[in-house]
This record gives sequence, structure tokens and C-alpha cells, in this order.
Amino acid sequence: MESLPGFRDFEPSTCAQRNALFHGWRTVAQRFGFEEFDGPIAEPLELFTQKSGEEIVNQLFAFEDKGGRKMALRPEMTPSLVRIFGKNLATLKKPTKLFNITEQFRYERPQKGRLRSFYQFNADIVGEASLSAEAELIALAAESLRYFGLTEEHFYVRLSDRQLWQLWLKAFGITDEALVGGILSLLDKWERRPKEDIEKDLAKLLPSSVQAKTFFDATEQLRHCKTLEAIKACFSQQATDAELSEALRQRLSEFGKLLHELSALGCEKFVAVDLTIVRGLAYYTGFVFELFETGNQGRALAGGGRYDQLFEKLTRHPMPAVGFAAGDVTLTDLLNKYHLLPEYKRKIDVFCVFEETERDRALRCSQMLRRENFSVLYPFGETKMLSKQLKKAYVEQPRYILIFTQELSSRGKVHVKCLANETTREVGSEEVVEVFRRERD
Ligand code: HAM
Repeated sequence: MESLPGFRDFEPSTCAQRNALFHGWRTVAQRFGFEEFDGPIAEPLELFTQKSGEEIVNQLFAFEDKGGRKMALRPEMTPSLVRIFGKNLATLKKPTKLFNITEQFRYERPQKGRLRSFYQFNADIVGEASLSAEAELIALAAESLRYFGLTEEHFYVRLSDRQLWQLWLKAFGITDEALVGGILSLLDKWERRPKEDIEKDLAKLLPSSVQAKTFFDATEQLRHCKTLEAIKACFSQQATDAELSEALRQRLSEFGKLLHELSALGCEKFVAVDLTIVRGLAYYTGFVFELFETGNQGRALAGGGRYDQLFEKLTRHPMPAVGFAAGDVTLTDLLNKYHLLPEYKRKIDVFCVFEETERDRALRCSQMLRRENFSVLYPFGETKMLSKQLKKAYVEQPRYILIFTQELSSRGKVHVKCLANETTREVGSEEVVEVFRRERD
């Protein structure tokens, strides 16, 4: 029987590769002082229907339990984080830096870079309003790729700002929250759709005072700005009042400070100003970013941003927060492409072979070695001739073969065969553990 579409089996070699990613993510998160947490794989359905935005809601694995409760497998971790830490906001240390490595489920069409079950490395900072939080998270996201040997030749961070987009819409007189949300969601899919379709949708959404074509052309220009100066120049072509001009000046200054802090963190070569990034999730309120392979092949490696209103929506208590998540599917593809995934090799230190009379002695010795952190195998069932056991032992490629025979035992000895140089030593059976311990040190 096959696995479900978009779900994966992890045999030892792919499981080891997956665990190597987890190890790298965990190591880098701890270097930045993030603390690991976890939550349930299933949550009340409304946690996502209220908080994640339409795109994810359409992709939910949702069902009812036997008690009639509506629930869903988590498609992302952010709403769970808000639910978990929203319980004790008054006493929460600020900032709190959190990470986790968890499986997520989205009913998407399985394709390259997109599955229905995947792992995410989430990192979030709760309780910090300053852009130092964004800077640290972007630096963490970049370091989590550098850890695996990826450099600025392989990936980059596309940094954008939803507040700039809101100011842009304001310049066209668009301030209604639902309308702003609708246009941001259009902007998120802009790249993937024909111009005519976007213009048709714009015509439906925009107030009658704004022509769809005019808005499309001006917006195209803003989308392609690569510097803060270019953004400023683009805004200056619209009729902005003094209040809007001041808001723009302040926001561009914040953007400049963020770029400056990222430079200080050694990230300038990774980061590009790119307003085409808007993010599909509805809860973002400020700077947003996505990490891509250079040349933008494939789906995003990671994405995130500031979501300062999500805690308030869920708990009625305001609390600033920023975060991102990186996925294992696109990262594995990229590492494979550049041969950066560690080669899987099972590591066995010792294989014991023995005459049947020596079974208890061999098992006792195996167990003592295991307690000393050596990996040890021995043949199961009634043992065959030593030569047959040795053949089996070679298949496993251990570093050493330990040989127990009646004759050796009568002299209180065992043989230790080293496979690297094919030499055999005779050592006292009581000293075996000590000999291996010395060898390791
Ligand atoms: P997201 O952009 O939906 O953000 O997902 C983040 C990353 O998860 C993507 O860049 C991608 O690598 C991976 N990913 C998403 N969907 C799939 C899929 N179907 N198959 C394989 N990989 C996938 C979020 O989930 C936000 N909750 C991130 C966040 C954390 N924002 C603030 N804190």
C-alpha cells in the first residue's frame, strides 16, 4: 500500500538526512538563545479559521472528533504559539525567543517543493516592538542556511514591508481594512497571474475614483523598486498629503535602520529590498520577508514577518511579535542540488562474534560497551560457525570485531580485530571496556 499523496516515508537514509536538518536548525537557534517549545498536532478548528487567512483555511485537514468537536491538523505553528503563550502574557518575559521543529499539514496539490505533510523550523520573538527583532530573525534565518554550507551564491532574503503597501493604498484613498486585505492578497499572487486577470479583479475591488489600469501601472513601478530612494521617488509621483508624506518619511527611516542593523549582523550580502513580497498569511502587519534560492527558482525556503495584532485578536491583550518558518522540503532539494546533504552512513563501533558457549560473556560485554556509548551489534539466535558470523560482521562495516571463543575464554582473553588495518590484538576479557575507552579518548 502506498502512502497518502503528499505524505512521505522516511527510511533510515532519508530519516538521517531529515534529522541532520533538525540538528542544524536546533544548533543555530540555540546559538541565538532561542528556547524550544512544542504544542499539539491538532487544534480547535476555529484557531485557524479566525487567525490564518483564507489561503490556509482552504487547505486545512479538518474533521470532527467522536465528541463532535471541530478540529484541524495544524497547517502552521503561529496560531498555536499565540494560543499557548497568550495564556500568561502578563508574566511572560519580554522579549521571549522561541523556536520549534514540527510537522505541519496542508491540503495542497503535491508538487516540487510542496507536499501535504512537511516539517517547519519556526522561530519567533514575542514582546519586542523594535526592529532589532526583525533583524535578529532575518540573521537567524540566513545563519540556518549558512550552517549547511549555503552562501550568498545560493540564497537571498527578499525584504518588504506591508506598512509601505498600506501607505501606497492610502495614497489612492484606500483605507478600508477589508479592501486593503483584498488588495494585499491580490499583490501576493500578482507575479503568478496574467495582467488582464489582475486588472479585472482590481476593477471589482477598487473605489470608482481609481482606475484599474492607472493603479496597475503605478503599482508595477513600485513593485520593482530595489532601493529606498526608488520607493520614495515612486511615491512622489502620487498626490500625497502632508500627513502621508510624514508617515512615509518615518517608515522609510525605519526601513533604513533595519537594513543598517542587518549590515551590522553581517547580512548585507544576503538581503534585497523587494516589495513584490507581501505574504499570503493575513496576520502580518509590518516588515515581511521570504528566503529564496538565487534566481528565484522553486518555492520559498522560508518566510515570515511581524504580526503585532494576532495576540490581541486571540487574547484581547496587545503583544508585539515577529517570526518566520523555514520548510524542510525546499531546503532538502537545494542541499541535494549542491551535494551539501551529509552522506548517510550507519556507524557501528563493535560487532561481537562468539561460539555458542560464550554467548553470555559476549552479551554482557556488549551491554557494558553500549553503556559506555559504543554502538554494538551481535548475531541473534543460535550462533553459526565463526566464519559465517564474521561474514555477517563485515557486511555491517564495524570499526572492530570482538571475537569470543572457548579457548580464548579459558585463558581469560578475547580477540579485537581492527577493520581499518586488519590487525588482531589479544586483550584480557576484563580489560575490553577500558581498551575501547582509551582508544576513544
Ligand atoms: P509560510 O510561508 O506559510 O509561513 O511557510 C513557511 C515555509 O514553510 C515556506 O517558505 C516553505 O518552505 C514551507 N512550506 C509551506 N507550505 C509548504 C508545503 N505545502 N510543503 C512544503 N513546504 C511548505 C508560515 O507558515 C508562517 N506561520 C511563518 C511564521 C512564523 N510567521 C511568523 N512566525
